[in-house]
Amino acid sequence: MELIRIPRIMKDTSIGHLLHGRSIGFVPTMGALHEGHLSLVRRSKGENDITVVSIFINPLQFGPKEDFNEYPRDTEGDMVKLKGADADILFMPDVSLIYPDKFLTYVEVQNLSEKLCGVIRPGHFSGVTTIVAKLLNIVKPTRAYFGQKDFQQAIIIKKMVKDLDMGLEVVVCPTIREHDGLAMSSRNSYLNGEERKAASVINRCLNQTTELIKSGIINHDQIKGFMEKKLSEEPLVTEIQYASVYDPDTLEELEIIDKEALLAVAVRVGKTRLIDNILITPVRHLRPLTG
Ligand code: PAJ
Repeated sequence: MELIRIPRIMKDTSIGHLLHGRSIGFVPTMGALHEGHLSLVRRSKGENDITVVSIFINPLQFGPKEDFNEYPRDTEGDMVKLKGADADILFMPDVSLIYPDKFLTYVEVQNLSEKLCGVIRPGHFSGVTTIVAKLLNIVKPTRAYFGQKDFQQAIIIKKMVKDLDMGLEVVVCPTIREHDGLAMSSRNSYLNGEERKAASVINRCLNQTTELIKSGIINHDQIKGFMEKKLSEEPLVTEIQYASVYDPDTLEELEIIDKEALLAVAVRVGKTRLIDNILITPVRHLRPLTG
């Protein structure tokens, strides 16, 4: 695996591969890699000639009171994992080369960025779209890989790529989970033993809500009420930031579940903020229950 730290060298390397007719798959990450990240690397390996992974903890997407300084860092462990997954290039730039003095330009996808996580983390998605736009300009991938775990992030990036004619394919890959259903996340390392056990309530809530909808309950208030009740029954859930059912294209809350729907949750377990979601495909026979 080749390690590149300088954006200009990354750019020239990518241009060289493209001129030789090789496709480039790109997996942007913030490191502290787990099986979720590695599943994206493997998918890229299967679909492209060259796979580039970036590790860059992007200060622009953390709020002033958020965990930028505490965010887990494990460069050596990450490199072992990436070699194991047979990644071709690790791009790990220094913050000073990505955001030099007097950096003034931001990329923002309006509307979608203001919903769900955007309500609680103002400015977060503009930080994400700005860094992803920059990384895409540097790496010049044929395809870029994102996890459904961060559903809102994935659809915002898809919209940016479309609106700005960036000319690459955005591939969204399934969420990889621990044995008890907890979505893998670099932030799971913040949880102590009790909190880790309690965190499985998130996925249980999503699965039980799916069953409820399949049983014919398709009204927004009942579904949201059920989700909030399930989550609040766990004493270590200290805050429910959102838990509801949304239109997966617009992220508006759905009044009636008569089409594909996104169940999405953001909670704090202890002090740790965790998110998860599940997509429910429409079941034809669903109708509102009438008396
Ligand atoms: P990070 O949280 O490191 O995640 C990198 C990629 O891995 C994202 O596309 C994320 O959705 C995916 N991922 C994380 N957990 C996953 C899981 N359990 N299953 C499948 N995929 C998973 O997301 C970011 O970094 C940053 O915002 C970034 C896009 C790199 C921009 O800074």
